[in-house]
Amino acid sequence: MRKPLLAGNWKMNKTIDESVALVKELAPLIKDVADREVLVCPTFPALKSVADAAANTNIMLGAQNIFWEEKGAFTAEVSGPMLVAAGCKYVIIGHSERRQYFGETDETVNKRVKAALKFNLLPIVCVGETLEQREANEMMKVVETQVKEGTKDLSADEWKKITIAYEPVWAIGTGKTASPEQAEEVHAFIRGLLPAEVKDSVRILYGGSMKPDNVADLMAKENIDGGLIGGAALKAADFAAIVKY
Ligand code: PGA
Repeated sequence: MRKPLLAGNWKMNKTIDESVALVKELAPLIKDVADREVLVCPTFPALKSVADAAANTNIMLGAQNIFWEEKGAFTAEVSGPMLVAAGCKYVIIGHSERRQYFGETDETVNKRVKAALKFNLLPIVCVGETLEQREANEMMKVVETQVKEGTKDLSADEWKKITIAYEPVWAIGTGKTASPEQAEEVHAFIRGLLPAEVKDSVRILYGGSMKPDNVADLMAKENIDGGLIGGAALKAADFAAIVKY
C-alpha cells in the first residue's frame, strides 16, 4: 500500500566527480529493484551531473534544502525552479543539522515546505527529538510540534505529496540506532497526527544510523515506510544492501 522509499542523504560529502562515480557504482547494484523507490540527495553543485548519470535508471534525485523565494537578492540560496531544472523530484526539509547549526525553525520549515509544493517538488519533512528531550520525556510533544508547525495550512491534496522523516537526533551519525520498537512508537504517534484523508498513505521514513544489518528489523514495523540514510548511503554496496533489505 505504501511503497517503501529509501533515500540517501549525502550531506556535505563528495565532489561532482565522486558523486557521479557513486551513482554509477550504485545503479547496476539496484537495477532490478521495482517495488520500492530509491532516492539520492547529493550536494547542490553535484545535482545536475548526478541527474545525468542517473538518467534511465531507477534512481531519483533530491536536494538537501530549498529556499522559499523563486529568485532575487538572496545570496547563497537555491530556489525550487533551480532544483527542478537540475533534475530534482524530492527535497529534504528541516533536517536536524539545519535546525541545530543553521537556525532553521518550524516556521522556516513550513515556508520551505510550501515553496517545494508550489514548485512541484516532493518535501521530505524531518522531525526528531534530542537526547535531552527524550530523557525529559518531551519527545512526543517535540515531534508533535515539529510535524504540526512544519506542515501548517496544507490542503489534503498537498498532504498527498508529503513524506515525513523521523530522525531522533541522538541516533544520527552516532552508530546508535533507535530500536525498531522505539522507532515504531514514534512513527505510530506521528501517523496519528496526520489528517484523516492521508493517514494511511503518507510515508514515514526512519533516519539515524540505518545500516544493512538493522534495516530489515526496522522495515518490518507497520509504520516504518523507508529510510533516510546518511553515512551508509556514501558506500554503494551498503546503500544497495539497504535498498534490497
Ligand atoms: P546517519 O544520518 O544515517 O549517518 O545517521 C541520517 C540522516 O541524518 O539523515
